[in-house]
Amino acid sequence: MTAPILGIETTCDETSAAVLDERGTILSLVIHSQDVHRIYGGVVPELAARDHLKRIEPVVAAALHEAGIARRDLRAIAAAAAPGLIGALLVGVTWSRAAAFALGIPWVPVHHMEGHLFGPLLEDPAAVPPFVGLLVSGGHTMLLWVPEWGSYFLLGQTRDDAAGEAFDKVGKLLGLPYPGGPAIEAAAREGDPERYAFPRPMMRRKGGAPVTGAFDFSFSGLKTAVARTVARLEEADRVRDERAHLAASFQQAVLDVLAGRTLAAVEAVGCDRVLVGGGVSANRALRTRLRGDIGPGGRLFTGSPRVSLDNGAMIARAAQFRLEAGTFGGLSEASASAPMPGTLPWRPEMRDSSQGSCPGSAARPSPN
Ligand code: KG4
Ligand code: ZN
Repeated sequence: MTAPILGIETTCDETSAAVLDERGTILSLVIHSQDVHRIYGGVVPELAARDHLKRIEPVVAAALHEAGIARRDLRAIAAAAAPGLIGALLVGVTWSRAAAFALGIPWVPVHHMEGHLFGPLLEDPAAVPPFVGLLVSGGHTMLLWVPEWGSYFLLGQTRDDAAGEAFDKVGKLLGLPYPGGPAIEAAAREGDPERYAFPRPMMRRKGGAPVTGAFDFSFSGLKTAVARTVARLEEADRVRDERAHLAASFQQAVLDVLAGRTLAAVEAVGCDRVLVGGGVSANRALRTRLRGDIGPGGRLFTGSPRVSLDNGAMIARAAQFRLEAGTFGGLSEASASAPMPGTLPWRPEMRDSSQGSCPGSAARPSPN
């Protein structure tokens, strides 16, 4: 008899529950995407919390039913405890904690972004460290060197908007439905990515010299550039005609930045195993671009959309690691902004040891 684990995700606008067996195989995964926000063009925190409250019991019941597991057979219950909308988080945390207490089994708080790192592993047993991790979601954009689970050396993160947030805001500017990411990707397929020369923020310094040593992202300037262009086109009533080209040109700028930064990280760390996770990793153009840029010698790990977008299975899988490790990394309650457990500063001197620990990357030349 395997000892299954239940994972619950309620950080934003998905109520999700999943059951994994002890080897990390998905026995069931139920995702309820809230549509109460659609008419507002973005997530309304209070409505999200109320909807989670209404859905959590039936979503968990459906996951257990689908897995053929009774509550008393569970080994542990995990929930995403940070970061996210506090009212939404509190529903998952309070519900799961009470359920674990009633059953007399461990409750495991999981950091949502650590969950995203475990997403690809649910489908590919090779998606394990060491790797350079690119996490791109609606709230975060992070570039990490991950020599082993639980050690997350932060190379860079966004200084303003997250990548997904930029997709959502630009989607709104273009009159596309929420969330903007999938809508922009679809519109971009019909457009010319060269039509508008939007900026590639942080890719180059003012004088034109490449920025070295810094892997931070910035997307708010790009969003403003699109807004200005849209305003100009609106005067001539041409936004509709140009929508696909605007979407394609914007997406191209985001891909250039994400892929450029990731490749720079690969060079700096000396490891060409790359994992991309979070909702934006569902973008096919991004995967294709990264795969091409990394080349046939390297590895790219990604998951299908069901394990890349917010889901309970990634939370359960990260919880299995945390239970084995015997530490929750300081997480103990719902928090809107707690940092990811195990986050450490990256230092360029670490390159020799990082490269040495990465299979197949030993022969890579040093970046000057
Ligand atoms: O990880 P996720 O499901 O939720 C958060 O943790 O935020 O990511 C959601 C984000 C949204 O901003 C959404 O627009 C974006 O992921 N997204 C995409 C695509 N699918 C979802 N962005 C670009 N292309 C997509 N295909
Ligand atoms: Zn997420």
